[in-house]
Amino acid sequence: MAEIHAGPEAIAMGVDRLSKGLLVAFPTETVYGLGADALRADAVERVFALKGRPSTNPLIVHVSGIDMARRVVANWTIEAQRIAEHLWPGPVTIVLPKATNIPDIVCAGGPTVAVRCPEHPVALALIESFGKPIVGPSANPSGRISPTTPEHVFDSMRDADLLILDGGHCRAGIESTVVDLSTDVPTILRLGVVGAHTIADIIRKPVACATQEHAEGTSKSPGLVGPHYQPMTPTKLVPIDALSEANDTVVILAWSVQSHPHRGLLIAMPTNLDQYASKLYGALHDADKTPSTGIWVEMPPIGDDSEHDRSVRAAIMERLQRATHA
Ligand code: TXA
Ligand code: MG
Repeated sequence: MAEIHAGPEAIAMGVDRLSKGLLVAFPTETVYGLGADALRADAVERVFALKGRPSTNPLIVHVSGIDMARRVVANWTIEAQRIAEHLWPGPVTIVLPKATNIPDIVCAGGPTVAVRCPEHPVALALIESFGKPIVGPSANPSGRISPTTPEHVFDSMRDADLLILDGGHCRAGIESTVVDLSTDVPTILRLGVVGAHTIADIIRKPVACATQEHAEGTSKSPGLVGPHYQPMTPTKLVPIDALSEANDTVVILAWSVQSHPHRGLLIAMPTNLDQYASKLYGALHDADKTPSTGIWVEMPPIGDDSEHDRSVRAAIMERLQRATHA
């Protein structure tokens, strides 16, 4: 396994590997993805195997722009066009009925495909040079914390036959918003930093939110239910006033206090919610590497009263609830 600061030569090595059906970890603005040729079932199978991902959980197909997106779906809609024009490249994934050239394994045998154009120069250069779409689940073992640096990918996949393209720290820090446009009412399947209100404004239609159904176990997206994003160390979410109960064997992730009440380790979290999201997985990875017996995460900051802060906080809370799910 090699790790490279990704310039043109590294991109060319990445393209060479993709052409051979091999895997390339690549940076995006959200988290690192585990890339493979989306049109080759054998390459996609390697992604499922390396992640230990259940075959029932479909993958996102990454494209370099609208033209490529149109080739992976059966019918590109006006809503898809509006979202792509306003929000791509960016952290929004669109679900539509799939085109026949996408192997069934990508979509877990289902009728739809999830497609997104990432906002990262290395990802875009890789897809453009390859000239074909690439699958890209987050580059972590299934159920674990997503990677926001090349080191996170290396640490969790060190024995794999994998090229890691180094694109630095991922800016947004949590995975893309997933919006299903294959149903009569456009529906958010996964919360992200782009909120439902933004998408509703752009497509000029109401947008439903299916994340409550996820909690009740009736989700269309099997990957969006139950424990996920989990550190190896037992992790819990605690109210602000419970931090004083932390002993020195637990590491705390806190934004409201500057020091651990009992001289244990404290990882300082930002009060700005975008910055909080950007730092969250890195902080969980760091906390997990310490010899502590537990990770206590203070309830995230409330932010201001804007729709943006409300949706970023909801996306953060969803990750934290799953990271701390028993
Ligand atoms: O930000 C992101 O989206 C990152 C970066 C690497 O692009 N990728 C990512 O992929 O988070 P992954 O595989 O870790 O999560 C994709 C989620 C899964 O929970 C999956 O169930 C859902 O999207 N999904 C994929 N295809 C779908 C489909 N056809 N219908 C409904 N949900 C789908
Ligand atoms: Mg993932």
